[in-house]
Amino acid sequence: MDNHLIIQALITQLKPLFEKDSSGHDWFHIERVWKIAKQIAVKENANVFVVELGALLHDIADHKFVKDFKTESISRTTDLLSQFESISETEIEAVIHIVLNCSYKGGVEANEMKSIEGYIVQDADKLDAIGAIGVARTFAFGGKFGSLLYQPDIKPMTHENLESYHKNRSHTINHFYEKLLKLKDLMHTNAAKEIAKERHKFMELFLEQFYKEWESEL
Ligand code: ADP
Ligand code: NI
Repeated sequence: MDNHLIIQALITQLKPLFEKDSSGHDWFHIERVWKIAKQIAVKENANVFVVELGALLHDIADHKFVKDFKTESISRTTDLLSQFESISETEIEAVIHIVLNCSYKGGVEANEMKSIEGYIVQDADKLDAIGAIGVARTFAFGGKFGSLLYQPDIKPMTHENLESYHKNRSHTINHFYEKLLKLKDLMHTNAAKEIAKERHKFMELFLEQFYKEWESEL
């Protein structure tokens, strides 16, 4: 089967799985990550097919919501990919490597990603967490989990370990400091660094305006 047809067939199967998600991993997130990852892969001369598969499957199991992230990631990825005979074992391994290591997890764990294809999917995923889309996703997440928009008496807080990141869910503005504003410096590829600059500036502008309005200064 032609790679292009595999991608289309996979998309048809994945769409319903992500249809009902309102925690920031809906189908359109996957689609945006896939599209921008493809662009970056071409610029970086990476294996575009592996990048596309990795991007489409990178959220197939969410470490925040599944019991055994590693087992779930491996079994779901293998099940979905092994139905296509022309995908090799090596390609499946490469995609599993991406799926297992993609998530940023509060930025407190070492990055175990080893392949350029994996770096590209990570960059694409991070790009979708910043800029205007990033702001929108963050407040959508905060709303779903019942967080306040902002609490001025609680100062920006970052985390020393994964447990603290998961436990200390603060007001939503804090998520900019614990994660979003750090992402531009964690990009691996030059193509993503360029895109991140603009999106980062937008978030700074957003915060500036937010605080001014909060204090009735505008
Ligand atoms: P990723 O897909 O990069 O692993 P996450 O699963 O951590 O990202 O988050 C999905 C979306 O929800 C992102 O846009 C992220 O910024 C947002 N998000 C995650 N945790 C929080 C939080 N504590 N408060 C607000 N938004 C969050
Ligand atoms: Ni994602």
